[in-house]
Amino acid sequence: MGLIIAANWKMHKTASEAAAFCRELKQREKDLRGVEILICPPFTALAAAAAALDGSGIKLGAQNMFWEEQGAYTGEISPAMLKEFGVSHVIIGHSERRHILGEDDAAVRRKLETALNHGFTPLLCIGEREEERNRGETSDVLERQLRAALEGLNPGVLKDLVVAYEPVWAIGTGRAASPTDADSAAGLVRQVVEKLLAGESASAPRIQYGGSVNASNIGSFTALSSISGALVGGASLEVDSFTALILAAKEAAGC
Ligand code: PGA
Repeated sequence: MGLIIAANWKMHKTASEAAAFCRELKQREKDLRGVEILICPPFTALAAAAAALDGSGIKLGAQNMFWEEQGAYTGEISPAMLKEFGVSHVIIGHSERRHILGEDDAAVRRKLETALNHGFTPLLCIGEREEERNRGETSDVLERQLRAALEGLNPGVLKDLVVAYEPVWAIGTGRAASPTDADSAAGLVRQVVEKLLAGESASAPRIQYGGSVNASNIGSFTALSSISGALVGGASLEVDSFTALILAAKEAAGC
């Protein structure tokens, strides 16, 4: 399966900063062929990023999306608003939204279904907190998050899904999970998906790793056949660090 590497800029970059980054990245695109590259800027920078990426194969993602079409939902963003800028992917259930902004499993589920119904590729984020890991609850947490998000969905949609395994303790800490952790989380995702499918055949979702990924450690993840790329925060903010990371990912994956 091809690699998908996503830049999650979180609350970084104005529209003009985003445009400058995207223009520069587009210049370097020919060296990065073979990898699906995705930029997820803040909402206010989507238009500028879209204009700067026009004519390139680099895709645009949103960091969040509400589940209603329109209405009295102050501060929320609808699917149509994102479509207008050519957004093709949406990050759903990032741990900062779950743990800082109080998004629960039910909200994640509604957003995921809405994203799929509108033809977006969702990047569904799952991951355990440090205390859960210390209590030996990692598998239970991942299974709960996956079941809440996926149970009852039409199996045909799974091929359109990306699951990002992002242990909360690894995000922004400089302490990435080990490739073994990522591989076992990927195994668990596959198992849970198989259980949910109950014998029906369907393609499995692609699985990314996220949490303190950089150019030095990405290769140990993308060398694994179970991991199809990464969701990248800090190391995606500069064009140099982001392109170095993509090149290292490609080399290790042999693509
Ligand atoms: P990080 O963030 O690469 O800065 O750890 C990853 C993420 O939150 O998606």
